[in-house]
Amino acid sequence: MNSEEIFALTENYIAPTYNRFPLALVKGEGVKLWDAEGNEYLDCLAGIAVCNLGHCHPQVSAAIAAQAAQLMHVSNLYHIEPQARLAKLLCELSFAEKVFFCNSGAEANEAAIKLARRYGHEVLGEGAKRIITMHHSFHGRTMATITATGQKKVQTGYQPLLDGFDYVPFNDVEAVAATITEKTCAVLVEPVQGEGGVILPAAGYLNRLRELCDERGVLLIFDEVQTGIGRTGAFFAHQHSAIAPDIMTAAKALGNGFPIGAMLAGDRVMCHFGPGSHASTFGGNPLASAAALATLETVRDQGIVDKVAKTGAFLIDGLQRLKQSFPEIIGEIRGLGLMVGVDLQVPVAEVVGICLKHRLLVGSAGDNTLRITPPLIIEKAEIETLLQILTEVLTDVKNRQA
Ligand SMILES: Cc1ncc(COP(=O)(O)O)c(C=O)c1O
Repeated sequence: MNSEEIFALTENYIAPTYNRFPLALVKGEGVKLWDAEGNEYLDCLAGIAVCNLGHCHPQVSAAIAAQAAQLMHVSNLYHIEPQARLAKLLCELSFAEKVFFCNSGAEANEAAIKLARRYGHEVLGEGAKRIITMHHSFHGRTMATITATGQKKVQTGYQPLLDGFDYVPFNDVEAVAATITEKTCAVLVEPVQGEGGVILPAAGYLNRLRELCDERGVLLIFDEVQTGIGRTGAFFAHQHSAIAPDIMTAAKALGNGFPIGAMLAGDRVMCHFGPGSHASTFGGNPLASAAALATLETVRDQGIVDKVAKTGAFLIDGLQRLKQSFPEIIGEIRGLGLMVGVDLQVPVAEVVGICLKHRLLVGSAGDNTLRITPPLIIEKAEIETLLQILTEVLTDVKNRQA
């Protein structure tokens, strides 16, 4: 099929929930993608922080093919070897002692919310069900997770929302302290806010949240759906702060593009889930677990995470130089590892659209932030290409304004 035919099918048959660019991608390898006409693109979005190892990484594709030929699915009524091995590896790579598997970030957060409420009910007292989340956060699109999300735009039209959520500004520990009551069971926070516009935690913020939650006896939940699996230059972003949450969620890059999510906790907390308390038909099935196991082993064995800090610093340096050339277009630049946001003083959607014409995929976040989240395997030469294209795009934008 050619691109026009694919666009027409989409238009006719797919629910109109996405504002799609006129682009139909059919093939990928590493940081490159190709459309239906064979045009090549540089991917600096990675499916929004999903394909951390690049597209169709040979080890991940081989693991999926081998598992698909052997056993794709059995119920969680039975033991599943790749799932058990994946859980062990996730625990070795994090603070966790037990893992619950699901299929997406929203489901992982649903599981975290349910576990926190159950912990509240059984440990803190019957009414301790409330969860504190942050303004401009993003936790998913299910009813519980849009309620947890501190952004009105994802909630519009879906009321009544779930009861039991309180919202405070990000980076404000005092506001959390003032909001915790005997009815609170947990604080839920992204270590770096992604959809909110790549907002970094202030120095010491996560550590102070940890201390506060300990003092007040409530759980600390880190949503690492976007920040996890090496994205920020640590396997999980909170590890930069040398602290551990009570519950953590992961998804996105966990399967390098194969859908899988996970909710992780220590035994002290996870023991409040028992048989029948939560479940997912596909959660951690053999195929998804094999994909995630190969992903994590590759990230670990190829030292991918260690390279991220350097590559990220190289990218930020280049962007700062770009800002000097285009001070009227580029505002603040924020980033941790290869999770980078560039505030723009021109409409970001327009810039992303022009980038596409230059065969570069980047994204947007927050109010007007250009989002750059390339595969973690991106080389310096490819970052130079990215910067070169951005220079051409911003020159184009500047000329249009003149
Ligand atoms: C921090 C965070 N949490 C949760 C989600 C939801 O994940 P999913 O789309 O897999 O449900 C996202 C998605 O962007 C996210 O960035």
